Amino acid sequence: MTGGFAVRAEALEKRYGEKRALDGFDLAVREGTVHGLLGPNGAGKTTAVRILSTLVRLDGGQAQVAGIDIARQPREVRARIGLTGQYAAVDEVLTGRQNLEMFGRLFHLGGRRARQRATELLEQFDLADAAGKGVDKYSGGMRRRLDLAASMILAPSVLFLDEPTTGLDPRSRGEVWQSVRELVASGTTVLLTTQYLEEADKLASRITVIDQGRAIADDTPDGLKNTIGGDRIEVVVTERADIPRVVKVVARVSDGEPDVDEAESRVHASVTDRVSALTEVARTLQDEGVPVEDIGLRRPSLDDVFLRLTGHRTETKDEKNAESAKGTAA
Ligand SMILES: Nc1ncnc2c1ncn2[C@@H]1O[C@H](COP(=O)(O)OP(=O)(O)OP(=O)(O)O)[C@@H](O)[C@H]1O
Ligand SMILES: [Mg+2]
Repeated sequence: MTGGFAVRAEALEKRYGEKRALDGFDLAVREGTVHGLLGPNGAGKTTAVRILSTLVRLDGGQAQVAGIDIARQPREVRARIGLTGQYAAVDEVLTGRQNLEMFGRLFHLGGRRARQRATELLEQFDLADAAGKGVDKYSGGMRRRLDLAASMILAPSVLFLDEPTTGLDPRSRGEVWQSVRELVASGTTVLLTTQYLEEADKLASRITVIDQGRAIADDTPDGLKNTIGGDRIEVVVTERADIPRVVKVVARVSDGEPDVDEAESRVHASVTDRVSALTEVARTLQDEGVPVEDIGLRRPSLDDVFLRLTGHRTETKDEKNAESAKGTAA
């Protein structure tokens, strides 16, 4: 009995030495939906996915996947799930078709059925034309789609996707999103981890935000964006001394207190009527003769969500890479 939930987890605990990778993590994923698990580096996303897919043992709490207890009946769970890890699992040397047939045999499908299943999946993931090409010649997006196809060999009822689009260009990302949508339309439930609010927003009907091993929010994408106040207006001033004046102007069009980022000379705030807010702020600042470096509207980011929910910022992979690149350059 699933009670309408493909995944239910309560108070999951996982420790690695002193580190609490999961620290009382709760999750409920409705059947037939895409559920986003959104969080920054090290939040515990992969740990949660690995526990739910029975690859690692939990230290506390309990969970059911497809109505089955993960600790008591891990084999039965494994028969009903698919998993695409954070790093591609396909073999570079083989062609797309050979990869899928190999996975089919690993799952004991038998040669004939494995070939048949490979053909179906190559069609479904729009890889039929590239079936005979070596995977080393695939683009990032094609590789990810092949990865997805491989995790669908047994047509699982629940699919775990761990950061399926990290590192992909926008076009490849769009292709993977399309494949995920089609999977869900065909009845699969998907738990998708991501560091991008935009991705969770596009795909998921519900989002759990995870930080330091705990769920800190669980809402619809709109609900989540509403807690941080929808779209944002952002002004970067030329002179830091002008920040207080800009705060006043921005406050007039905002439904909340403007946030100030002193280091970047940036003032930003949530707005409901985005275009008129932008027009008014631009006009007022020009009238008052306040020099502006940049002004614009943007969608809320994971960082905005975090700032609001936890009071501290997240550090994205890109920033981390930029930091270490700076370190090496210095
Ligand atoms: N096998 C392990 N041994 C020791 N520590 C681990 C291990 N796996 C995870 N951790 C730690 O647990 C925490 C959560 O890691 P996890 O990989 O689940 O995060 P994540 O949300 O998937 O991050 P990312 O976005 O970087 O993939 C991190 O602090 C990580 O260093
Ligand atoms: Mg991870």
